[in-house]
Amino acid sequence: MNRTNEEQEKAIAYYDKISGIYDYISNCYYKKSRDYAIKELGIKKGQTILNLPCGTGVNFKFFQRKLYNSGLIIGIDLSNGMLDQAKRKTKKNEWTNVDLILENATKIDQKWLEQYSEKKGQVKIDAVFCDLGLSGLPDWRNIIDNMISILNPNGRIVILDWYLDKPSLRGKFVKWIGKGEVDRPIWQYLKTKVSDFKVDDSFNRGGVFVASGTKKNKNTKYNYGIFS
Ligand SMILES: C[S@@+](CC[C@H](N)C(=O)[O-])C[C@H]1O[C@@H](n2cnc3c(N)ncnc32)[C@H](O)[C@@H]1O
Repeated sequence: MNRTNEEQEKAIAYYDKISGIYDYISNCYYKKSRDYAIKELGIKKGQTILNLPCGTGVNFKFFQRKLYNSGLIIGIDLSNGMLDQAKRKTKKNEWTNVDLILENATKIDQKWLEQYSEKKGQVKIDAVFCDLGLSGLPDWRNIIDNMISILNPNGRIVILDWYLDKPSLRGKFVKWIGKGEVDRPIWQYLKTKVSDFKVDDSFNRGGVFVASGTKKNKNTKYNYGIFS
């Protein structure tokens, strides 16, 4: 299910516009799911976390509770407005381990990481967090594949997003407010790609899920579990 360029441009213009008030909505509505998702990332001091899309950087203060300004937070988003808010937070908190990049999520792949490492010194990604992004991003399956491909062996991927399998008024509203789709089988796809898969789809009256997994490596045993 590809989104047209026009839809993408409209979504970015929309996020530019609402960037100043975005945190008020997000902090209230996604508190429980975000707390849970961040635990699932299993962040340790000194690690590198990629947040795609990072939006206004709502997650950064939670990452920092584990990182203590060590390691690296790479935040990627295509909206200048949203990134400006993330920059503001970074400056205000004097975080020195945050790198904010204006880029299309579809461009983040192994080649991108190689080029990034050439500039910054070798960068290894320990965890990827895709929150409220894949429901609106084009080529979302490809993005999941790319995120897993750039992870370190045994790296963690966590996705927080919407999934409503039946069309409903609520679904239409979420689609309108979030400028994304609500019926993409995102966690179902992730399940086929990682080990230690886990999903909790009980957030926000069953509309929001948090799914997580570990990058497969040759020595990993498969363990698919569902908590819902
Ligand atoms: C609902 S917000 C989520 C932001 C953040 N992850 C959070 O949970 O608060 C969706 C974000 O996706 C970004 N976005 C949309 N299309 C994108 C693309 N193709 N590449 C990168 N970011 C994109 C928007 O600019 C917006 O910041």
